Amino acid sequence: MKKILLTGDRPTGALHLGHYVGSLQNRVEMQSQFETYILIADIQAYTDNHHQPEIIKKNILEVLADYLAVGIDPVHSSICLQSHMKGLFELTQYLSNLTSFDQLKHNPTLKIELAQKKINNLSFISYPVSQAADILGFRANCVPVGADQSPILELTNKLGQSFNKQYKMDLFPKVKGEYSICSRLMGIDGHNKMSKSLNNAIFLKDSADEIKKKVLKMYTDPLHLKVEQPGHLENNVVVYYLDIFDPDKKVLSELKNQYVVGGVADIVLKNRLIDVLDAFISPIRNKRLHLSQNEEYLLSILKQGTDSGNNKVEETMNIVRDIFCLKF
Ligand code: TRP
Repeated sequence: MKKILLTGDRPTGALHLGHYVGSLQNRVEMQSQFETYILIADIQAYTDNHHQPEIIKKNILEVLADYLAVGIDPVHSSICLQSHMKGLFELTQYLSNLTSFDQLKHNPTLKIELAQKKINNLSFISYPVSQAADILGFRANCVPVGADQSPILELTNKLGQSFNKQYKMDLFPKVKGEYSICSRLMGIDGHNKMSKSLNNAIFLKDSADEIKKKVLKMYTDPLHLKVEQPGHLENNVVVYYLDIFDPDKKVLSELKNQYVVGGVADIVLKNRLIDVLDAFISPIRNKRLHLSQNEEYLLSILKQGTDSGNNKVEETMNIVRDIFCLKF
């Protein structure tokens, strides 16, 4: 029997290159080896976006189109919508019984987010418990996420094991985090992790023109003032992206050698990057465009994935309800 893989995203915006190298690529490669579930975590998105339900609802379909366009295949992966999985809400409540306020207050992921976002509503503070319920509800074995989420997986394992111990059963397996090597793609500003909110992202739906504008804004080498001067590769944002996305490593390596010696203008590197990124994004963009014109199809994929996710979670919840619910 295949092991269970669960991962997810908050639908707070269309996905970008950072998502691609940090998680999507990995998911596409792993999906057939596991029983794969991908959760669009709209309930989690509401914890800090409750004032804009229309935007979250629109983004659910954006994220879904991104998934399908990069090669997440509904044959292998069930794409589930969190708000339609009542079992997960229920499990969140039972796991909350086992979570102390201190455990949340000292959770490093949450601590950083609370400081950055300056919010203190209860649902946000307890979102790690809801995420633990997502993972335990599916009884997932493998959870590919960014390295910043590792404290949440630790909490998940603690809660799963406490539950097993308290109710003397072996219901929840230990979860293994799968942390992608390149989980922090730098944004086009060259300083911060790529993120929609920092306005430093290249999106999987960006047009050729948007890609061009963004690449032209990137820093190359501030010391490289004349073409004949030697260029530097370190801290050179354009070189950083070429290293990751240029498929022709041999030609790139020759170009970099020439750049270091002198005689290669920064715009040559930029033009190469524009071509490389457009060649990478354009098939995704086209597929995405085609998909977004067929909302009915997108909704049917989501419905089918959510139904299959609910089947899985209900297996767990039937056992959990035996513990807590008087049946009549
Ligand atoms: N917190 C994750 C993120 O922001 C999204 C998420 C919700 C998730 N539930 C999950 C990830 C369960 C993995 C497993 O990207």
